[in-house]
Amino acid sequence: MTLLLEIESYPKTIVLRDGTKVELRPLEQGDKVQLHRFFQRIPEEDKYYLKGNVVAPEVIREWTSNIDFEKVIPIVAVMDGEIIADASLHRSRAPARRLIGELRIVVDPAYREIGLGGRLIRELLDIAVYLGLHKATFELVDRREESAINAAESMGFKEVAALQERIVDMWGNHQDLILLELSIKDVELWWRF
Ligand SMILES: CC(C)(COP(=O)(O)OP(=O)(O)OC[C@H]1O[C@@H](n2cnc3c(N)ncnc32)[C@H](O)[C@@H]1OP(=O)(O)O)[C@@H](O)C(=O)NCCC(=O)NCCS
Repeated sequence: MTLLLEIESYPKTIVLRDGTKVELRPLEQGDKVQLHRFFQRIPEEDKYYLKGNVVAPEVIREWTSNIDFEKVIPIVAVMDGEIIADASLHRSRAPARRLIGELRIVVDPAYREIGLGGRLIRELLDIAVYLGLHKATFELVDRREESAINAAESMGFKEVAALQERIVDMWGNHQDLILLELSIKDVELWWRF
């Protein structure tokens, strides 16, 4: 993994569409307080649909104290010492699933729609290339995580399955859980823009 960090040369500074400068780097043990503060700034509705229970302090503690790049590669965006986005690539250690990586991403509402989410997805896809993965996936809630669905599709992800009415939304209505997938060999798709 040290090699991976060297290849991706973290920490790296990127400039967003509005000129904001942000540092990208892997999550560190010392990020516990900042990560907790970050998720407190995320709207309840966004948090409700996330896979991890980011409201629970013990979950944040677990994420920051047991960083294991063989399981999860978490990349954060930092500005003025505060985390403003968290993106992660989840790998399975089960041999039969070793070529698949699942992406998860959350951006602070104050920094959305200026290219940060897209950039982080591309970062994770580049890491997936390095790891030799074949497929990257997103599991998203239809009609409730539309920004993420659009972001994934703009990167070349395609919907490959819909699990009907698998999700209970915040208002008690049933929604589909959709699986979006991208072949890692289609590298030209995500750096097209
Ligand atoms: C999804 C999310 C990460 C996008 O982050 P972002 O920094 O705003 O994304 P970008 O500015 O890079 O936008 C990338 C693409 O996403 C899509 N997108 C982003 N916000 C959108 C919105 N409000 N409505 C529609 N499409 C949107 C667009 O296709 C955009 O492409 P464009 O820049 O060419 O228009 C952010 O909205 C978020 O954190 N949402 C809540 C958490 C979530 O749903 N996570 C997914 C669970 S894994």
